[in-house]
Amino acid sequence: MEKHALITGGGTGVGAEIARHLAGVGINVTVVGRRREPLDLVASANSRISAVIADITDEVSVGQMFEKAAEANGPINVVIANAGAAESAPFGKIEREDFQRILDINLTGTFLTFQKGLECLKRQEYGRLIAIASTAGLRGYPYVSHYAAAKHGVVGMVRSLALELASKPFTVNAVCPGFTETPMLQRSIENIMQKTGMNEEQARSALYKDNPQQRFIQPGEVAATVAWLIGDGARSVTGQAISVSGGETQ
Ligand SMILES: NC(=O)c1ccc[n+]([C@@H]2O[C@H](COP(=O)([O-])OP(=O)(O)OC[C@H]3O[C@@H](n4cnc5c(N)ncnc54)[C@H](OP(=O)(O)O)[C@@H]3O)[C@@H](O)[C@H]2O)c1
Repeated sequence: MEKHALITGGGTGVGAEIARHLAGVGINVTVVGRRREPLDLVASANSRISAVIADITDEVSVGQMFEKAAEANGPINVVIANAGAAESAPFGKIEREDFQRILDINLTGTFLTFQKGLECLKRQEYGRLIAIASTAGLRGYPYVSHYAAAKHGVVGMVRSLALELASKPFTVNAVCPGFTETPMLQRSIENIMQKTGMNEEQARSALYKDNPQQRFIQPGEVAATVAWLIGDGARSVTGQAISVSGGETQ
C-alpha cells in the first residue's frame, strides 16, 4: 500500500529526521512548518519529500495544509503532529499570554492537526495518528509547567481518541522523548547558560542527569519508533504513550 505521511514541524530537529527516515524506506512525505528555508532543505535531499507552509495554530491554515499535501502527493494516511515549542519560567512569572501560546502550539495545534487529518483518513483502510509529545507529558519538570500541561493534554487526547477509533483500521499513539539533541535543546542549553552562568558542559549535564543512561536521545531514535508504529506489526498498539527516554519514565 502507498503511504503518505504528513509531518508538522518537519523542517528541523525530530520532524526532519522522521521525514528523512520515512522517505528512506519508501514512504512519501510532506513536511510542514512556517519557514520555507528549512523545509526546502529537507525536501531537497529526497525526491519523496515535499514541503508545505502552514501554521498549525490556525484552523484555516491546517485545512489548506492537508489539501495542498494531498494534491501534491496523494491521499494522506499517516499524520504526525510533531510541531511544538518549549519555554521556561518560574510558575509565578508565566504571563497568561505565554501560557496560552504554549497551549496553542503544543496542544491545540495537535488537536487541529488530528481533527483535520482524521477527515483524510476516514475514506481509507489504514491510518496512523502519531503525536510527538514528551516525557513532560508523563512527569513534571520545574519551570515548564505550561509546556508540561500542554504535553499531558496531548497524551490524554491520544488515549481518548484511540478508544474512540478502536473499531476503525487506525491507531493513535504518542511518542514521548526525553531531552533530544535538536535546535530546541540547543536553545534550552543557551538559556540555562545565560540565566545561571553555567558553562555549556554544566548546562548539558543539568539536562541529561535525569536520563538513567546519562545521555541525550538522538532524533533517529524517535524516528525509528515512529517508523515501527507505522508498520503493520504495530496495528494492535494504540492509545500508548511510548517513552523514548533511557528509562526516565516507567
Ligand atoms: N528536543 C527535545 O528535547 C524534545 C524532547 C521531547 C519532546 N520534544 C518535542 O519534539 C517535537 C519537535 O521538537 P524539536 O526538538 O525537533 O524542536 P525544533 O527543532 O524547534 O522543531 C520544532 C518545529 O516545529 C515547527 N513549528 C513551531 N511552531 C509551529 C507552528 N505554529 N506551525 C507550524 N510549525 C511550527 C518549527 O518550524 P517553524 O518555526 O518554521 O514553524 C520547527 O520545525 C516538539 O513537539 C517538542 O516539544 C522535543
